[in-house]
Amino acid sequence: MGILDWLFASKPTHADSGARIAPPCFRTWPVVVLGLGALLAGPVTTLQAQAPAVPPPTEVEVAAAIAAGESTRALELALRRSEETERQHVHALYTVARLHGLLGHPDEAFAWLGRAAAAGLLSVQEVRGDEAFAALREQERFRELTRAIWLKGYLWLLERPERDAYQMPEQVMRTLDFRPGERVADIGAGSGYFALRVARAVGPEGRVWALDINDTLLELLADRVAKAGLANVKVAKVERDDPKLPPGSVDTILMVDTLHYVADRPAYARKLAAALAPGGRVVVIDFLPKPIGERPWGPPPEQEMPRAEVDAAMAAAGLRPAAVHEFLTEQFFVEYRAAAEPAP
Ligand SMILES: C[S@@+](CC[C@H](N)C(=O)[O-])C[C@H]1O[C@@H](n2cnc3c(N)ncnc32)[C@H](O)[C@@H]1O
Repeated sequence: MGILDWLFASKPTHADSGARIAPPCFRTWPVVVLGLGALLAGPVTTLQAQAPAVPPPTEVEVAAAIAAGESTRALELALRRSEETERQHVHALYTVARLHGLLGHPDEAFAWLGRAAAAGLLSVQEVRGDEAFAALREQERFRELTRAIWLKGYLWLLERPERDAYQMPEQVMRTLDFRPGERVADIGAGSGYFALRVARAVGPEGRVWALDINDTLLELLADRVAKAGLANVKVAKVERDDPKLPPGSVDTILMVDTLHYVADRPAYARKLAAALAPGGRVVVIDFLPKPIGERPWGPPPEQEMPRAEVDAAMAAAGLRPAAVHEFLTEQFFVEYRAAAEPAP
């Protein structure tokens, strides 16, 4: 069993609210969920753990709700209690790992750090920066473990059930109405959240290029594609500033929560426009700018990208908003097509 299998053998539990409701005594511990930007960008932690508004329920409160026959309330209390217990458990494991690190016991430090990582989500930036592990940082075991910690956190951000509530993938797919045989490039495919859905929608005659810049995600995605038996998906690495698509080669380019990472968007938009087959479209779904207090898991402020900026970059490449979909609460969702072409 590889380290990744082992980490994933235990589900990330308290993670959703980890950044927002970690109790004050955990403010400096690293079981903190990061914004997407921070996870990608490396050293910047965008979130701080905050105190819960109310303390977690006690066992007595849960028992009292059960005894009163208030099962729904009892469940809600029990869930909050279990999240809290798990958080404390991860904290306890991490503390043992730190102490072994400080005492110069590398094997034990790795073992307990692995247990903490398997039990919950850790902030990779904080683990990497933790002085308790200073003597271990250069070891391959540490690098492997922190890569796995990063991946677990990133996958949780992309795939947690709470994402479906705002991402509405089925409605997005219905809206985009992919046809069998369509050629689609999913740029910044990540874990395949959309790429796998699109691959099923376009069928065996269709093609999906699942493109990304991150080797770890590409490896994971290739594995998922193979396990799903999807022969119509090609997973490939691209450059930050170049999706490397041949001219006129695709009907749809999909970029979900990815364009905001691109530095020179007008230049990039020109490459997208050149890659479109006649009648093709570029679909951009990306975060509506919001203060971090309102949405702790979005891109950091320096990566925020108002829709007007995307419209301008696309316009410079000869693309106009052909359809604007308003049903997503956290993101804008626009289909761009060549300005010269009639609306579909
Ligand atoms: C927030 S994730 C979104 C993943 C996926 N689109 C989804 O909706 O689940 C952004 C992805 O874009 C990738 N990425 C970032 N910059 C990129 C670029 N310039 N070109 C291609 N992929 C990029 C990242 O590695 C990451 O997998």
